[in-house]
Amino acid sequence: MTSQRRRILVTSALPYANGHIHIGHLVEYLQTDIWVRFQKMRGHDCRYFCADDTHGTAITIRARQEGRSEEDVIAEMSDAHQQDFADFDIVFDHYASTNNPSNRALCEDIWQHLREQDMVVERTVSRLFDAEAGSFLADRFVKGTCPKCGAENQYGDSCDHCGATYAATDLLNPVSVLSGSTPQAKDSNQLFVRIEKLHPFLEEWTQSGDHLQPEVANYLKGHFLNEPLRDWDVSRPAPYFGFEIPDSPGNYWYVWFDAPIGYIASCKEWCDAHGEDFGQWWGTHTDANDATEIHHFIGKDIQYFHTLFWPAMLKVAGYKLPTSVRIHGFLTVDGEKMSKSKGTFVAARTYLKHLDPAYLRYYYASKLNHRVDDIDLNLEEFVHKINADLVGKVVNLASRCARFVEGERLAQPQQPCSALTVLGECKQRVAQHYEQGNFAAAMREIMAVADQANEFIEAEKPWVLAKDPEQRAALVATCTQGLLIFWQLVIMLGPVLPRLLEKACNLFGVDKATWDSAILGHTVGTFKHLMQRVDGKAVAAMINETASNEPNTADPAAAANNAAADSSLPALGGEPLAPTIAFPAFQDVDLRVARITHAETVPKSNKLLKITVHLGGDETRCIFAGIAKAYKTEDLLGRLVMVVANLAPRTMRFGVSEGMICAAGPGGKDIFLLSPDSGAQPGMRIS
Ligand code: MSP
Ligand code: ZN
Repeated sequence: MTSQRRRILVTSALPYANGHIHIGHLVEYLQTDIWVRFQKMRGHDCRYFCADDTHGTAITIRARQEGRSEEDVIAEMSDAHQQDFADFDIVFDHYASTNNPSNRALCEDIWQHLREQDMVVERTVSRLFDAEAGSFLADRFVKGTCPKCGAENQYGDSCDHCGATYAATDLLNPVSVLSGSTPQAKDSNQLFVRIEKLHPFLEEWTQSGDHLQPEVANYLKGHFLNEPLRDWDVSRPAPYFGFEIPDSPGNYWYVWFDAPIGYIASCKEWCDAHGEDFGQWWGTHTDANDATEIHHFIGKDIQYFHTLFWPAMLKVAGYKLPTSVRIHGFLTVDGEKMSKSKGTFVAARTYLKHLDPAYLRYYYASKLNHRVDDIDLNLEEFVHKINADLVGKVVNLASRCARFVEGERLAQPQQPCSALTVLGECKQRVAQHYEQGNFAAAMREIMAVADQANEFIEAEKPWVLAKDPEQRAALVATCTQGLLIFWQLVIMLGPVLPRLLEKACNLFGVDKATWDSAILGHTVGTFKHLMQRVDGKAVAAMINETASNEPNTADPAAAANNAAADSSLPALGGEPLAPTIAFPAFQDVDLRVARITHAETVPKSNKLLKITVHLGGDETRCIFAGIAKAYKTEDLLGRLVMVVANLAPRTMRFGVSEGMICAAGPGGKDIFLLSPDSGAQPGMRIS
């Protein structure tokens, strides 16, 4: 043990459940994992908590696009996220979901404190309402012209073109994404947190101690704390996927209210599952948890929530405050924003198909410091760095020494070389760099010793000594030193390269390495291959696959499996093919993409639903569809379907049907609507 055992609680931002993990996210999760592994290797009681962030409009949009429930989407995404993290060797002590009951209970508790301390006000605000769809519109459900720069087709919260943020009601020519109709402003009762009441506390907390990086503290002082803080709008009217506010029925907590509380929920779930005392880890601030450290790792885009709202909420509820919020910049690839079309928006899963996770762990470590600057993944440098540093310097040291001394006991060298003598101090500096989050400096220190060690080996030439049996003692002395240095390098790289450390443990018969583990007296085992060089072609293949694969990643193995399973089904679903038609006959059928904007049950019919679809502009159709047994009306709202748009109107018992919605299946519960891939727009012709 290097110093007193600390209790350290660490979090990464909770990834949104509406998308897969990509290499941008990994900057954060790898950074945090490295820091946590470092603390654990040092013997501290350090725990890493995370969860999926599951609420809000984006999830609803995705669920509707995919024609399934929000719960379905978040369950599948949670599995995918956790698998991606595990395959990058990112290890959490617990991974929760913000949709869990534990989180709801904590939200209610914190809300209660806000109410009691008169922090909540109710106010009527004007929000956009889609009369056709019968619902208030979340910011992302409205598109229109940016009020600042005039760019068209912008969402209701911010402009992609000029970056301006505004209220949805400020958009020019707003159009509801749900129905294509023009939404109207309508009054809605909303709840606000009066964050300005905590201005003096926030001034003090952000500007004192080491809670924030200096540039962040200055930014907050100059941009937010220099004027009264605006009330924070924490409720959203139904329909909204989230937790309903207990004392305000019909209103839901805005996703950013319950998301950070998910940090506490994850910690609480872990405590409950492991018989740990929640009051010692987090909970109300008391003597029992006074020494517990809480560190949040986040990206610069979400600092406002974590440095103002979050401490304010914790303060009001009497919870322990964070020790530090550590903010990193954004990933660029070859100097540019990640881009789908350029193939640089690489999914974690795609990366894993082509490259070893260790490469990215090391590359990011070599780039990360404790500042908020963006970090660049330069693909050429990536290949070069891995091959030169990891393979050329670190792994090479072992492969040049180990095979000559297999089965030897490692003894204290009589005349240690210079690399060996500087190691102790180097290790202390490396530890300091890790502690501060300056991994780049740590990697530089490590590689400098590796260089020195390789120079020593180069000069001693074990491969020459090995040819002369009389030089056996010199050979063993040289290789022993090489391996002792290698071991220390691998220990120092342990937080970054856990698999390499594990292989070194096997080589030297070490059970579980800590920062101070030594191998003197251990016997050298059989040398096995430690790490492959990166092939530039694998990097190119990864980029190509990403570029050609948007939006869906095709998996050839899965496709082959599905094809095999499909061939066991009856041909053509058991229904003989209709007589061949000429092309013009097909052209006569006008198939269109349409959006369902309204769906209702039909009294006295358990089969039919009355559905309104929108075909762009002001084209709509009212269609009676026999899908009531397979679909609930609320699940249909907003989704895209395929319709026969030029079918002659047909008078039915319940009204006139003006078209047909395409679906597959025999009927009853087995009816499947067809969905276009995302990107298709209502009105587009299908051919
Ligand atoms: N759900 C919120 C966080 C809630 S925390 C109570 C969120 N999710 S996110 O999935 O969009 O991002 C998760 C983390 O990854 C954030 O800290 C974000 O800054 C980080 N990154 C997302 N894209 C990134 C890059 N391209 N580069 C670096 N970090 C990035 O925000
Ligand atoms: Zn704009």
